[in-house]
Amino acid sequence: MNKNLRTVLPGETIGILGGGQLGRMTAMAAKQMGYRVVCLDPQPNSPCGQVCDLQIVGSFDDYSAARELALQSDVLVYEFENINAVVVAELEQEFHVPQGSRLLEITQNRIKEKAHLLQSGFPVVPYRVVGSSAELAQAAAELGYPVVLKSATGGYDGKGQAVLKSLADLADVTLSGPAVLEKFLALTGEVSVVVARRADGETAAFPVGENVHRGNILHTTVVPARLSAELLEQATQLGMRIAESLGAVGLLAVEMFVTEGGIIVNELAPRPHNSGHFTLGACYTSQFEQFVRAVCGLPLGPTTLLYPAIMVNILGEHIAPLMPRLATLPPHVKVHLYGKSGAPVPRRKMGHLLVRSDVPDDTVAWVEDMLGMSKGRLAAVNCQPSTVNRQPESTEH
Ligand SMILES: Nc1ncnc2c1ncn2[C@@H]1O[C@H](COP(=O)(O)OP(=O)(O)OP(=O)(O)O)[C@@H](O)[C@H]1O
Ligand SMILES: [Mg+2]
Repeated sequence: MNKNLRTVLPGETIGILGGGQLGRMTAMAAKQMGYRVVCLDPQPNSPCGQVCDLQIVGSFDDYSAARELALQSDVLVYEFENINAVVVAELEQEFHVPQGSRLLEITQNRIKEKAHLLQSGFPVVPYRVVGSSAELAQAAAELGYPVVLKSATGGYDGKGQAVLKSLADLADVTLSGPAVLEKFLALTGEVSVVVARRADGETAAFPVGENVHRGNILHTTVVPARLSAELLEQATQLGMRIAESLGAVGLLAVEMFVTEGGIIVNELAPRPHNSGHFTLGACYTSQFEQFVRAVCGLPLGPTTLLYPAIMVNILGEHIAPLMPRLATLPPHVKVHLYGKSGAPVPRRKMGHLLVRSDVPDDTVAWVEDMLGMSKGRLAAVNCQPSTVNRQPESTEH
């Protein structure tokens, strides 16, 4: 029998590689279902560690720390794709890691991810792989400006990206490793779909979310997404087919661009996703519960949307305006905070709001006003060539 088909029952232990907010909300769902939960993260008292039975403090590159976690676990999951895939490949020889190292290896590297999508026939943004200044100049000329340069590994929230508007911008870029150069597209919108898949192939997609990014960080998700029924169906089918093509187990989040020419896949994440946070409240099953169900071999839950909603991310700079408002917020506004320690750092994801509302534009405007968020859609990608190939500092998503 495929060991990935094994059922892990409440009372047994789920080990989470990563201690960020995605692990935290997964652990909370798992605890509600009766599981024991342990996690590994370099930061003591991590957001996930705070709600786990036990946190092991250690680096994701440290095989012995990961093995210590595995020895305490009946099933191991990752909530973060910048986990060392070699460590996960070793762990899966000995332990039950249903998501597997292959999914991680592909989705943690933009070059491998795009190659997989392209080879499998999914629509991707025109791109080139570049490893040197000469290749970069040539690729930019072929694609035509503007282009966006993205580090192959380690990027999140726009880190490791630079928009190059013209030949002159090339002078500012130093490549410190392989990267992907993409055509910078005119988008009419962005959407995403989170798909759950079990080892036996059973698949379920959550409702498509309509996303707005600001300064490269997800700002809002609106459900239902305001797309034609045809495009919604296309986005959902793309999500399910991509999950299938990868043999993904657990969750796969698929970020997509909407252009005049149709839907194009942007990137994948093998885990719960920020744009799926609305499911926690607005869907019959949350993405976190679904993740636990999928990796534990339980039946997938209904993904039905219960009510129209908007999710707004709370970043470090929004904490000060939010706090004095908490006591007077309308009761249908749900505040989720991730327990991140230390002074709130600007642009760091600290929590999110979920608001039940069928007037998304008015509701977003109301939240923005309340939290002093700057208005309007900012340029999608910042232009910081020096940030290319910067490594992630922590388990942020
Ligand atoms: N080729 C492109 N054309 C137009 N806009 C783009 C392009 N690439 C990225 N963007 C904008 O920048 C945002 C972030 O890009 P991307 O998803 O590649 O980065 P990331 O740092 O990996 O983000 P995440 O935090 O989602 O992992 C996109 O959601 C989109 O708004
Ligand atoms: Mg993205």
